[in-house]
Amino acid sequence: MDYAPDNLLITGGAGFIGANFVRHWLSRPGTGPVVVLDALTYAGNQANLRGLEHDSRYSFVRGDICDEALVSRLMAEHRIDTIVHFAAESHVDRSILGPDDFIRTNVVGTHALLKAAKKIWLDEKAVRAHRFHHVSTDEVYGSLGLSDPAFHELTPYAPNSPYSASKAASDHLVRAYRETYGLHTTLTNCSNNYGPYQFPEKLLPLLIINILSGKPLPVYGDGLQIRDWLHVADHCRAIELVLTRGMVGEVYNIGGNCETTNMQIVRAICRQMDELLQADANLLKSYPQSPAARGKPAETLITHVRDRPGHDRRYAIDFSKASRELGYAPSFDLAAGLRSTIEWYLLNTAWWQPLLGRDYAQWVQSNYSAR
Ligand code: NAD
Ligand code: TYD
Repeated sequence: MDYAPDNLLITGGAGFIGANFVRHWLSRPGTGPVVVLDALTYAGNQANLRGLEHDSRYSFVRGDICDEALVSRLMAEHRIDTIVHFAAESHVDRSILGPDDFIRTNVVGTHALLKAAKKIWLDEKAVRAHRFHHVSTDEVYGSLGLSDPAFHELTPYAPNSPYSASKAASDHLVRAYRETYGLHTTLTNCSNNYGPYQFPEKLLPLLIINILSGKPLPVYGDGLQIRDWLHVADHCRAIELVLTRGMVGEVYNIGGNCETTNMQIVRAICRQMDELLQADANLLKSYPQSPAARGKPAETLITHVRDRPGHDRRYAIDFSKASRELGYAPSFDLAAGLRSTIEWYLLNTAWWQPLLGRDYAQWVQSNYSAR
């Protein structure tokens, strides 16, 4: 039977995917209140939620998911029946340089949420029905060879980075609370997201912004690593489907049907950026350092740099279970998804310019070299 969430607690709602989901959820007719709980780390940004403060269904609480007392209080006060858990440390390079925050937020933080949910929903029976949805990653399954079948829900876990190991640990805790205590959980493992509001240290926004300022486009190693790119809007629709139609206790893999090497995606962005800049004299004037303004193709900025240690070679997602059971299908093809994402970054310079405090690519590379 379909589930109808009433009062949502969305953790990490000021991050990239969380903010897109909050916007998506509140745009559905007839949805109830949403409380966003977010610690506003370097990746959290209230500007991602700008405009929603006028919506009486929306409230924002700055706080840490590790604070079990705070989570319990919010759940009781707002009669929360559904948690959608996005909050995490999410960048693989940072997890290699400093794993501790990943263990704290992704493992200890997820456990604090599970404990609060068990207390309020199972021990105190505060609501009639409940759901704990955990947002996870395909990286928990490790790395595929070129001819291996895509990850499916029963693929054994084999995480390779501190990030994916911490997400795998959190997935296991969610499973344990379901099996041991009967918490009503659902879990999604999805592929690489892209789209509006993605923090500029991640590959796609980094490329777009570096092209505008004429900076090198750092490609790790040979650039033949493969990812399945998922537009964040498709991911948000998938989570909605899992929340409303998914079976309690089930795991669903969510992909974008866009397996691509890093070199292919870098070249595609270069081509699209060249086209857009060359077609608009105002853009060329605004970005005099861009290759297009200097009469060169953006591809001239591509720079192969030292590879990420333990870099997974290939991720691919078999999302046939979500298609069959929930009617999920990605709506974006990669060319259209990249085009709309680039256009968003061109239109929203005021969003990303304040986030460029440091040269992320250089910071990662110099720290890797120092090791
Ligand atoms: P993000 O880094 O953009 O945002 C994370 C958010 O969590 C930020 O707003 C941050 O302030 C908040 N946060 C961090 N620690 C917190 C804490 N202790 N308490 C409360 N809030 C805290 O991440 P994202 O890319 O939006 O990813 C969201 C979720 O999706 C994560 O769980 C991530 O593992 C998963 N995921 C992401 C991708 C991707 O491509 N981005 C792919 C698969 C899965
Ligand atoms: P990323 O966006 O960090 O996601 P993930 O590591 O979770 O897949 O990186 C996507 C791919 O792009 C990954 O194979 C690493 C590669 N990459 C680069 O080649 N250069 C970069 O500057 C970054 C950030 C990533």
